[in-house]
Amino acid sequence: MKEATGLRKFKEWVTGKKEEVDYMLFRPLVDEKMLIQKSYQLENGEMVKISFATNSDLDAIIQIQEACYDGQAPWGRAAVQSELRKRTSFFLISYHVGLPIAFIGISLRPQSVHVTNIATIPPYQKQGLATFLILLAANIGKKLDRTLMTLEVRMSNEGAKRLYRKIGFEDGKIKKNYYHNNGEDALDMELNLDKVDEYNEYLQIK
Ligand SMILES: CC(C)(COP(=O)(O)OP(=O)(O)OC[C@H]1O[C@@H](n2cnc3c(N)ncnc32)[C@H](O)[C@@H]1OP(=O)(O)O)[C@@H](O)C(=O)NCCC(=O)NCCS
Repeated sequence: MKEATGLRKFKEWVTGKKEEVDYMLFRPLVDEKMLIQKSYQLENGEMVKISFATNSDLDAIIQIQEACYDGQAPWGRAAVQSELRKRTSFFLISYHVGLPIAFIGISLRPQSVHVTNIATIPPYQKQGLATFLILLAANIGKKLDRTLMTLEVRMSNEGAKRLYRKIGFEDGKIKKNYYHNNGEDALDMELNLDKVDEYNEYLQIK
């Protein structure tokens, strides 16, 4: 039977619009322009690169975690891959002469940016790299009209808690038995993104 003209015209219209519709529904929320700095200076004066991670950085994200967590990546390949695919998530990754050295994972929520993971490999720690990645991600959050940055941290992770408090994160509620592997509690922390402007000035982020 001949297809009704109305239906055929509708199908043609949808096909013609497919690219536009795919773009609206599936394009990532972040783009290159939102990353306001693409390098960071180490204490020895050398520069490290910072970029949005893509699928080709999957192994690098796993390697960084393994270097930070005694060979065990808490976020395995499947979990990282799934985050890399979501339009509401992104990673920033840093390389020094081709070596992956640090990353931050972010999940975009309606009002906030949530840090899903952050790590700097031991030889590059305590040079301000994690602080810088947090602030770059916070700036992206501001551009997307988010007002808060949130995260959970293991109660025993004193180094990370110190890092977050130094940036201005405030302690929130304690989530009892949050971590499956050892039943450890998590501390919720949050940063009001209005605070980010003073940091931008201090770190000369423009
Ligand atoms: C936590 C971590 C990401 C910090 O990375 P980093 O690049 O060294 O962080 P920064 O250099 O920006 O640290 C800034 C501040 O954080 C605090 N800090 C960071 N690491 C610390 C540590 N191990 N012990 C004590 N304080 C620490 C310090 O106050 C430091 O400032 P200072 O050097 O002026 O004292 C890194 O140690 C790491 O990858 N750890 C293993 C993974 C992890 O625990 N991730 C956090 C999950 S919630």
